[in-house]
Amino acid sequence: AKNVGILAVDIYFPPTFVKQEALEAHDGVSKGKYTIGLGQDCLGFCTELEDVVSMSLNVVTSLLDKYKVDPKQIGRLEVGSETVIDKSKSIKTFLMQIFEKYGNTDIEGVDSTNACYGGTAALCNCVNWVESSSWDGRYGLVVCTDSAVYAEGPARPTGGAAAIALLIGPDAPITFESKIRGSHMAHAYDFYKPNLASEYPVVDGKLSQTCYLMALDLCYKHLSEKYEKLEGKKFSVSDVDYFVFHSPYNKLVQKSFARLLFNDFLRNASYIDEAAKEKLAAFSNLTSDESYQSRDLEKASQQVAKPFYDAKVQPTTLIPKLVGNMYTASLYAAFASLLHNKHSELSGKRVILFSYGSGLTSTMFSLQLHEGQHPFSLSNIATVMNVSGKLKSRHEFPPEKFVETMKLMEHRYGAKDFLTSKDTSLLAPGTHFLTEVDSMYRRFYAKK
Ligand code: ACO
Repeated sequence: AKNVGILAVDIYFPPTFVKQEALEAHDGVSKGKYTIGLGQDCLGFCTELEDVVSMSLNVVTSLLDKYKVDPKQIGRLEVGSETVIDKSKSIKTFLMQIFEKYGNTDIEGVDSTNACYGGTAALCNCVNWVESSSWDGRYGLVVCTDSAVYAEGPARPTGGAAAIALLIGPDAPITFESKIRGSHMAHAYDFYKPNLASEYPVVDGKLSQTCYLMALDLCYKHLSEKYEKLEGKKFSVSDVDYFVFHSPYNKLVQKSFARLLFNDFLRNASYIDEAAKEKLAAFSNLTSDESYQSRDLEKASQQVAKPFYDAKVQPTTLIPKLVGNMYTASLYAAFASLLHNKHSELSGKRVILFSYGSGLTSTMFSLQLHEGQHPFSLSNIATVMNVSGKLKSRHEFPPEKFVETMKLMEHRYGAKDFLTSKDTSLLAPGTHFLTEVDSMYRRFYAKK
C-alpha cells in the first residue's frame, strides 16, 4: 500500500470541566501558578458516568458514523491507554461490541501500555500492518483513551481526559515520512503506577520534566541524523512547518520548543541569526546536565524561540490548554488542534510530532499533509471533529464539585456492586455512559 497514514480523526472529551483560575483560588496557591506557571486554562474530567471505555465507545461510533465507514471494513483495532480498569481484559474487547453487531469479529490488535506513549505504539503498529504483507486491504483503527487523575497536590491541576480515534489506511491526507523518525527508550522512575489499588500515579514531577526534555533532545538528534543521511543536508526547525508535542501542560511545550532552538544553535543552524547567537552564546559550554537545570538558558531560549513558537506551535495548543493532559490522547489532541485551526492551509506542509511516555519511551516522527479527497480530507476532518462546538457545550464545575467527584472516583476505583447516577443531563444525546458495575466486576454501559 502507498501513502499510508491517517485518513480520518475524531475526538471526544467529557462535557465537564473546572477552570484553572478557580482551582488556584480553591487550592490556595499563588494566583497565576496554574494559568501562567503551567500555562493551562481548564481541566476536563470524567464524572462517575464516564470512563475510558465509554469515551472510546463514543469516539469510535462517531468516527464510523460521520465518515460513513462500514464497521466490516475495519481489520485491525488497537488501543493505547494507561488507565487501568482491568489487569487482563483489554479496552479493545469492550469496543468489539460495536463490531460484533455487524458480524465483524475478524479484527486483529489489542491494547498497548506505557504511560502516555501507548497511542503512538498503537499507531506505529497499525501503519506497519497496512504497509506489510499481512495487510488484508481493510482499515486500521487506533484509539487513544485516558482519564488522567492525580492525588491532591501539585500534580492534580495537570489532569485531563479524552479519547481520540484515528483511521489508518492508504492514500491518506496525512502520511508518514517513515524514514524520518527517531526514538529514545530508557529505564526511569519519573512517573509510574505501582500501587494497583489506586488510579493515581507516583510522580517525581521535576524528574519527569528533565526526562521529557532529555528524551526530546535525543529523539531530535536521532531524527536529524537520519534526515541528514537520507537528504545529504542539515536538518533544523526551519525544515518543519509545525511541531506538535505531547502536552502534559503548556509551559512544558513552550520549554520543549525552545530546547529545539537551543539544539539548532549548538549545531550552527543557518536560520539562527546574530542576535539570537549573542543571547545563547553564554550557554554553549554548559554540560547537558547543567543545561537542564539552567533557568537563564530556559529564559533566553524561550525569548529567542517566541516568534517561531507563535507560528509553528501555538496553533497546536488549543485543546490541551482547555482540556488538560489527556495522556495517550494528548499528543493527538494537540495535532487535532492544528487540523482544527489551520486545515485550509496545511496542504504540502510537514508536521513533526513528539510522543513521550514516562518510564520511559519516546518517539519523534514526521508527517506530510495533503488536502485529500472527501470524506478523507483535511477540511472534512476539521468539520467532523467540531472542536468549537464541543468546547462550547461544556459545563463548568466549581472546584468543590470537582474535588467531590475525585473522592467518589477514588472509592469507585476497583470497586464492585454499584449503580451510577441516573442523572445524565450533562451528557449530549447519543453519549455512551457507565450504568453499573455488578457483583462480578462486570461493567455495563448505555447510550443516552
Ligand atoms: N504566577 C506565575 N507563575 C508561577 C506562579 C505564579 N503565581 N507560581 C508558580 N509559577 C511557576 C513556576 O515558576 C513554575 O514555572 P517554571 O517551570 O517555568 O519554573 C511553574 O509555575 C510551576 O511551578 P512549580 O513550583 O515548579 O510547580 P510544582 O513543582 O508545584 O508542580 C509539576 C509542577 C511538577 C509539573 C506538577 O504539576 C507535576 O508533577 N505534574 C505531573 C507530572 C508531569 O506532567 N510531567 C510532565 C512529563 S510526564 C507526563 O506527561 C505525565
